[in-house]
Amino acid sequence: MIVHVFGDASQVAKAAASILSAQILRKPDSVLGLATGATPVATYERLVKLHKKGILDFSGVTTFNLDEYVGLPSDHQESYISFMKRHLFDQVNLKASYLPDGNAKDLAAECQRYEELITSTGGIDLQLLGIGSNGHIGFNEPGDNFVFGTNLTDLTQSTIEANKRFFDSADQVPRQAISMGIGTILSAQEILLLAMGKNKAEAVLGMVRGDITPKNPSSILKGHPRVTVLLDEDAASLL
Ligand code: PGA
Repeated sequence: MIVHVFGDASQVAKAAASILSAQILRKPDSVLGLATGATPVATYERLVKLHKKGILDFSGVTTFNLDEYVGLPSDHQESYISFMKRHLFDQVNLKASYLPDGNAKDLAAECQRYEELITSTGGIDLQLLGIGSNGHIGFNEPGDNFVFGTNLTDLTQSTIEANKRFFDSADQVPRQAISMGIGTILSAQEILLLAMGKNKAEAVLGMVRGDITPKNPSSILKGHPRVTVLLDEDAASLL
């Protein structure tokens, strides 16, 4: 795991956009794993700018998002499909972009379909991740076990609390999501994790310095050979 600490969040976004751009320039038919939440927004903004300037062509690129809420209409502005359209999909020329369908009738079958779809493209070249203040990656929440494949998961109270800022109240945050599993994430050739803010410092400490434990799901990334972590000073403050 390579860890870089930057002075502020905008430098993290610049560095992240550089790595993602280099990936696309090096391999124009890249398969990217993408994340939602506040963390990657500035990175997506930079990628969109590079595309609009004619520097970055996404026409060969396929994307798979980490997760999607269950039961939130896809046109709800906080669904992850809406988020991705707003911040990236509608502004660049992607070849294809996929998220799990959180409104599928058979959610277990949808998890399996999504996992197989990722495998059928040849797998993810570069997976972008944020981290929850509880150490979650995707919606792989702290627990007693690591869950391997794409799965239907219950959000923990701490995640509901963290995500209520995007909704009118905590009651409106969906209680379940479909998420790539830990094995799905670890199958990526390369992983890029971003974290900004003091509220991430403890989870980052566990990820970088702690034992591998499902109590902090991000800690498993130490077992992957190609992980780059980009932090601002606040997120790195306990290291
Ligand atoms: P955030 O969420 O980017 O909104 O902080 C990250 C996460 O929960 O993985």
